[in-house]
Amino acid sequence: MPIRDETIKAVQQTADILEVVEDYLPLKKKGQNWWALSPFTDEKTPSFSVNPQKGIFKCFSTGKGGDAISFVMEMEGIGFIEAIKILAKKYSISVEELELSEEQKEEQNEAAAHRESLYIVLNFAAEYFKNLLHNHETGKSIGLSYFKERGFLGKTIEDFGLGYSLDEWQAFNDEAEKKGYKTELLEQAGLIVRNENDKLYDRFRGRVMFPIHNVTGRVVGFGARTLKKEDKTGKKFGPKYLNSPESEVYQKSEILYGIFQAKKSIRDKDNCYLVEGYTDVISLHQAGIENVVASSGTSLTEDQIKLISRFTKNVTVLYDGDKAGIKASLRGVDLILEKGLDVKIVTFPEGEDPDSFVRNVGGEKFAKYIEDESRDFILFKTSLGLKESEANPIKKADVIRDIVTSIVKIPDAIKRSVFYRECSSLMGIDEDLLIDEGNKILIKEDQNKRFKEGRNQQFKSDSQRTDGGGVVVENKPETTSKTSTSLNDPVNFQERECVRILLEYGNQETEEGSLLYRYILEEIEQLEFNDPISKKIINEFSIALAKGEVLDSTYFTRHPDQQIKQLVVDMITEKNVISENWKKHHIIVPEKDAKLHQVVYSNVLRLKYRTLKKMCQESMELLGNAKTVDEEMEALQIFQALKQQENELAKFLGIVYS
Ligand code: UTP
Ligand code: MN
Repeated sequence: MPIRDETIKAVQQTADILEVVEDYLPLKKKGQNWWALSPFTDEKTPSFSVNPQKGIFKCFSTGKGGDAISFVMEMEGIGFIEAIKILAKKYSISVEELELSEEQKEEQNEAAAHRESLYIVLNFAAEYFKNLLHNHETGKSIGLSYFKERGFLGKTIEDFGLGYSLDEWQAFNDEAEKKGYKTELLEQAGLIVRNENDKLYDRFRGRVMFPIHNVTGRVVGFGARTLKKEDKTGKKFGPKYLNSPESEVYQKSEILYGIFQAKKSIRDKDNCYLVEGYTDVISLHQAGIENVVASSGTSLTEDQIKLISRFTKNVTVLYDGDKAGIKASLRGVDLILEKGLDVKIVTFPEGEDPDSFVRNVGGEKFAKYIEDESRDFILFKTSLGLKESEANPIKKADVIRDIVTSIVKIPDAIKRSVFYRECSSLMGIDEDLLIDEGNKILIKEDQNKRFKEGRNQQFKSDSQRTDGGGVVVENKPETTSKTSTSLNDPVNFQERECVRILLEYGNQETEEGSLLYRYILEEIEQLEFNDPISKKIINEFSIALAKGEVLDSTYFTRHPDQQIKQLVVDMITEKNVISENWKKHHIIVPEKDAKLHQVVYSNVLRLKYRTLKKMCQESMELLGNAKTVDEEMEALQIFQALKQQENELAKFLGIVYS
């Protein structure tokens, strides 16, 4: 439920970063800041710092930073509102939840009541199937003995709530009706099916039942395995596994089988094993390896990854030995990388899956096997590709592209550069070549994205920029920035520098006695910012200003938007780290005695110059791509106008850029 802005403000004003961090980490004072070992990585020397004056933390190993709220979000793996609630509790601030209108309340209550009824019938069904397994003659002789044959122990059967469905058309339906459960709900929960003649029958018949729980442990659906073999004519009795259809409480893309039973162990072990199916989860669990979930055949979805990352940032994919299986599972992994999780992979000997393998070797050996055989996913893919291209050198380019496609998905710049280096040495290919390839992919993806969004038209007739986000490409190793790759794009860099000066010095007077922020805002008014985050900050600043409020860096380091918060924290903590880059980009840093006005003036002009230069380049490309004479003429005119402005500005600045 939404909470009031006042509550959020109260928490932001009250939460003391030192107190909050100290609940999690022991801090030591050194100079102005307090230091600790980073909770986000394994490290020997402290790189995690807290600045109580500014109310922020910064982890120099991972680049993470923010205020007390973002710290709690990181540590607990939760969202903004949840973090506010935790801190409100710590400081005894009452959490006032937003009043909803009567109508909204009623709607919400109805929806909640409906979901609740679905949970109730599903729970009834789970109990019913469980009871049959343990107490019914056929349930015991067929269902239970199947599980026993598979080696499932009593406790395992209990932990996973396994059951059995009778091989009859209406056994469940009759029982549910007798108990007074509404047919409509049973249908919506996917437990019974209506045929063309409007006749109702049980969906699950003569199968062993695997209830599927959501993260809080409520039954949301079932997987059901047949116990029949094909008959003599080879006719099958339906699919081997039959699953519940989706319902209001069961969205396949949001559920992971086993997450309820696994979540504690995932957090403790700080790792989540990902397997293919029900039996893998259960067998591993029984062998004492409890941090395991299954995505049920399909590759992971975004929601499932979000669910995992509430408990850990490390995923180990355990897959069968067969080639096709490996190939298929590799495809889903890029999405996990993209979400910033670390992915390892373990493969099993040909013909084995995790279920059969753990039954063969036992839990201890299995755990050791995983430890020994865990390979980093990208390096695994690299060596796999290497083998392939040895047999077929023509495929090498494909292999490189494939690997680089995975690398560019990793959001963390430091990790990316490590992978570029390692893959380059593994493959015996120049690192620059890999990075070039990566940049090509990024640019292409960016173009595709813009094309899809219908924003491939880059210029309006007045030659103002209309596009929002520029693509962030990688620089070669010697210039790779520690903080953010987009800082290597001179325009983005200069934009961010403008934002920083605005936030840090905006309130100072210029020589003419006006205020600096006015000057900056006026000067950059006609510029459409390239970097979307800088753009958001400037917009918010201007809107607040219109209401008579001047925002500063403190405001933005408490901002609910993580990206904005992170950028501003980076700006005010990493000045010294990036100062080398500044010189390179001819950006002048205000020092104590420097004449601010001049510095700002020159920075703004340079930003204009950079932007124009980039626009010129883009219009050159447009020119190259023109298909008709008209298009060509128009592009040429735009190009000439831009070029003229660029030259004038260059003359004025007295610089010659390459
Ligand atoms: P298996 O075919 O190995 O299932 O698939 P099993 O029950 O272990 O059968 P046997 O005893 O080896 O012959 C492994 C996992 O793949 C999923 C299930 O989750 C199963 O646990 N699966 C398999 C399905 O979802 N649907 C299917 O049709 C087959
Ligand atoms: Mn199997």
